Amino acid sequence: MYTPNPLQRRRLFILGLGSQGKAWAQNWRDQKLPFQILLREKSSTIQEAKKLELPVTLFNEWRPEPNDIFIMLIPDHTHKNVLAFFAQQGGDIPLTFIYAHGVSYTQYNWNQVYPAWSHLLLAPKAIASEVRANYLSHEPLAAVYSTEGSIAHDAKELVFFLAGQLGINQGPFKSTFREETLADLFSEQALLCSLLPYGARLIFEKMVERGISREVAYLECWREVKLIADAMIKFGPENFHRLISPNALYGGEKARHVIFDKSFHDKLDTLAADIWSGSFFNEVMDQDLDALRQSVIADWSSTTLAQTHKAMEKKGVDL
Ligand SMILES: NC(=O)c1ccc[n+]([C@@H]2O[C@H](COP(=O)([O-])OP(=O)(O)OC[C@H]3O[C@@H](n4cnc5c(N)ncnc54)[C@H](OP(=O)(O)O)[C@@H]3O)[C@@H](O)[C@H]2O)c1
Repeated sequence: MYTPNPLQRRRLFILGLGSQGKAWAQNWRDQKLPFQILLREKSSTIQEAKKLELPVTLFNEWRPEPNDIFIMLIPDHTHKNVLAFFAQQGGDIPLTFIYAHGVSYTQYNWNQVYPAWSHLLLAPKAIASEVRANYLSHEPLAAVYSTEGSIAHDAKELVFFLAGQLGINQGPFKSTFREETLADLFSEQALLCSLLPYGARLIFEKMVERGISREVAYLECWREVKLIADAMIKFGPENFHRLISPNALYGGEKARHVIFDKSFHDKLDTLAADIWSGSFFNEVMDQDLDALRQSVIADWSSTTLAQTHKAMEKKGVDL
């Protein structure tokens, strides 16, 4: 079947070559999609682009052409300044910006600030490493999209075409910038990047304190997270609970009532309230995120869990 290419003669730029940028660029390169990586003049990632043999345009070399498309794979807190740069080059020229997360659009209403431009959402529901890995392995890769900030008639075709080239094979599912933002921030804050890694770390430490060997504790608390998550997805909530052992079933119910008490609900509501009101985004804008990342990594490096992970890798255990 003939599928029209909505890019036609439009130029496609990926802004940034960080975690998501590298995955999108490599997937699209493998699909033979023409694009340029757009980087700052003194970008530390120019070398990375050279290593991957990706074509680079520098911001000071770029001149606007109507209908240019930009994939915003730079940190969300930088969008404001970067969009202001494009506006200086001619805010009336029709351009298309595609965001991988809705937070800056939700906070600043880009469609009102820059009404001559189209603002689209194509948000993979996967960490960047898996956007590349699942493309290569043809495993499930989901995304959500929104065209609510677009003035172009072919916005949906464009998003679906780019998603397909990226390896998205679940959806993309229709959402809105605000819905994606709230859901993404709350899930990563309350579950994916707190409860899971910090829960695993705390329980690993409790086991080791009580005499369990590091390797056994590691297998129980870190390695098995993937296996249990795979089973939850494969079998669904009801069958998952049909499959687990009687001890796991009873233990889960007991712990559920101890851990997820009223104070836990209250804490979740506090986190959610900050996200829903927009105050969380302002809080993030005030942080030195590079320094924070370094201190979080230093803290994790000092843990027995991280050391055990490295020891397992050294032993050649296939993790
Ligand atoms: N990380 C994930 O797994 C993930 C998952 C889902 C969605 N997302 C979304 O994907 C987007 C990109 O996230 P990311 O984690 O991939 O970003 P990232 O790795 O932090 O992006 C780094 C890249 O952005 C460039 N950059 C940084 N500040 C810039 C600025 N002021 N002007 C121009 N370029 C700048 C960096 O180049 P320099 O060398 O010049 O600093 C580098 O190439 C975000 O919207 C994020 O919410 C990320």
